[in-house]
Amino acid sequence: MKRIIAVANQKGGVGKTTTAVNLAASFALTRRRVLLIDIDPQGNATMGCGVEKSQISRGTGDVLLEESDAASAILPLESVPGLSLMPSNQDLTAAEVRLLTTMAGRELRLRNALKPVQDQYEVIIIDCPPALNMLTLNALVAAQSVLIPMQCEYYALEGLSALVSTIDQIKAAVNPELELEGILRTMFDPRNNLANEVSSQLIQVFGDKVFRTIVPRNVRLAEAPSFGKPVLQHDKDSRGALAYLALAGEMLRKDDEVVGESEVASPLDTPPGAEAAGAESDRPLN
Ligand SMILES: Nc1ncnc2c1ncn2[C@@H]1O[C@H](COP(=O)(O)OP(=O)(O)O)[C@@H](O)[C@H]1O
Ligand SMILES: [Mg+2]
Repeated sequence: MKRIIAVANQKGGVGKTTTAVNLAASFALTRRRVLLIDIDPQGNATMGCGVEKSQISRGTGDVLLEESDAASAILPLESVPGLSLMPSNQDLTAAEVRLLTTMAGRELRLRNALKPVQDQYEVIIIDCPPALNMLTLNALVAAQSVLIPMQCEYYALEGLSALVSTIDQIKAAVNPELELEGILRTMFDPRNNLANEVSSQLIQVFGDKVFRTIVPRNVRLAEAPSFGKPVLQHDKDSRGALAYLALAGEMLRKDDEVVGESEVASPLDTPPGAEAAGAESDRPLN
């Protein structure tokens, strides 16, 4: 698992923000220091962490315009120990427009800004907007890997190939280190035949780059942002919370396998019942 992970998919409503917020909170629960960067002008990750987006004094927009250093734009979240947030709001749209008229190095702004602070965090998760624009480009240039949430729907694979070719282009041009962290199936309904079909196609094409953890459709995940909380703080036993804990566990375990320590229990083993997040489950959705 890489330290700086962009959560990206140019499609809206596929679960990027839900994944960024809840994965960040799950890693924070393992006592890792985590930074969540909101680089979407909609500020959904900001609001989902309980920060009022209209009240922020400095955010990702100021950092991209070099009007603030990263450290001054980062807020530790009291509600989630270990988790800090670089918030955003509508100002980010203006920042993007100004960036577009900047000639040199505009895609490097986030990467350069993170350099002085990145070693303070074990995990940095960037929540991207639903577009392949200058903001997403900044995220993909700053990141070491990309996590792609997707809904297993008819057009999903088509969008995915556009994103994968963008990643390849960025890799070739500016960020040779960039990797695919994995593809996450979200809002999954195992009773839907099409979802199962798209899911198996995905595995045929991407193999073990498809996370084994599946995030089910779960109402607790959808309602948590209205309380300004990650789902772990809202209903820690819900299937949604267990799914994101399981995803964090899967990502950490992959690291153990890479260094050949798969026998050693990971700090975050799959919690009991987390398999219920898988496609096999036919338990009622809570
Ligand atoms: N697993 C899930 N189960 C139920 N609702 C979900 C789930 N994941 C996301 N949602 C809801 O779907 C909508 C879109 O998700 P979001 O994470 O905001 O997507 P994106 O950031 O890709 O636009 C939101 O209202 C969110 O609460
Ligand atoms: Mg979003």
